[in-house]
Amino acid sequence: MDHKMKFGRSKVCVFDHQNEISDFVIRTWDRISRRAIGRKGLFFVGLSGGKTPVDLYLRLSNTKETLLWEKTHVFLVDERFVPFEHPDSNYRMLKETLLDHVPIPRENIHPIPTGRSTPQASATAYEEDLEKSFGLSENQFPEFDLLILGIGEDGHTASLFPGSPVLNDRMSLVASIPLNEAKHSRITLTLPVINHARHIFFLLTGKDKAPVLRKIMDERDGSLPASMVHCKKGSLIFALDREASILLSGS
Ligand code: 6PG
Repeated sequence: MDHKMKFGRSKVCVFDHQNEISDFVIRTWDRISRRAIGRKGLFFVGLSGGKTPVDLYLRLSNTKETLLWEKTHVFLVDERFVPFEHPDSNYRMLKETLLDHVPIPRENIHPIPTGRSTPQASATAYEEDLEKSFGLSENQFPEFDLLILGIGEDGHTASLFPGSPVLNDRMSLVASIPLNEAKHSRITLTLPVINHARHIFFLLTGKDKAPVLRKIMDERDGSLPASMVHCKKGSLIFALDREASILLSGS
């Protein structure tokens, strides 16, 4: 690791190379999952799409760490409303880079069911999956052990875009995002679900992410969805490469 900084209650870890970010996340994943499994017998992780985590998924599928896949449940943080075979499907990407290559039981994999008639119907079906898998009672939120998130250049995270009315939704677990906010309609975990997670990683690489990071950290722009993410119980870690960190005052 190149260096570490504090940002409020979050930690910022800057690395020289993307593979170091992935190795760091894998070591942390291993530790968090063992703790979760020791506590409740299962480990719940939510994974994002996008380009940044692909290196992590490829390394996870190849890692020498003996990750406890039998006890791991994988959910998606968000999805495009497209069939699973579509080039833009997050589930397709995750399957090809990770899930097809690790000994995870099929029933532990929770894709967002995009085969429903509308994005809202898919969101409702995914809420039911969350309620059942986490054994939730009414008005309870699931507590993910770990979420892997990215941040877009406009400050979006998951499929929560700046100015979206979904950012004010305090009740739903999953929401649908209409076409005018993105290229495809999308389905996403909501902010309260994200903020109930025990541990969160934001992964950012490349110089294109430097301005948005500066807005989040130095300018404290609270209007950006990524700035609304907080971890009440565990850790919120920004894992960056040097290029993404270049505009930060502490870098
Ligand atoms: C997705 C996301 C999204 C992503 C950011 C960053 O499915 O696209 O979950 O929030 O994490 O857009 O994307 P990159 O990693 O491609 O920069």
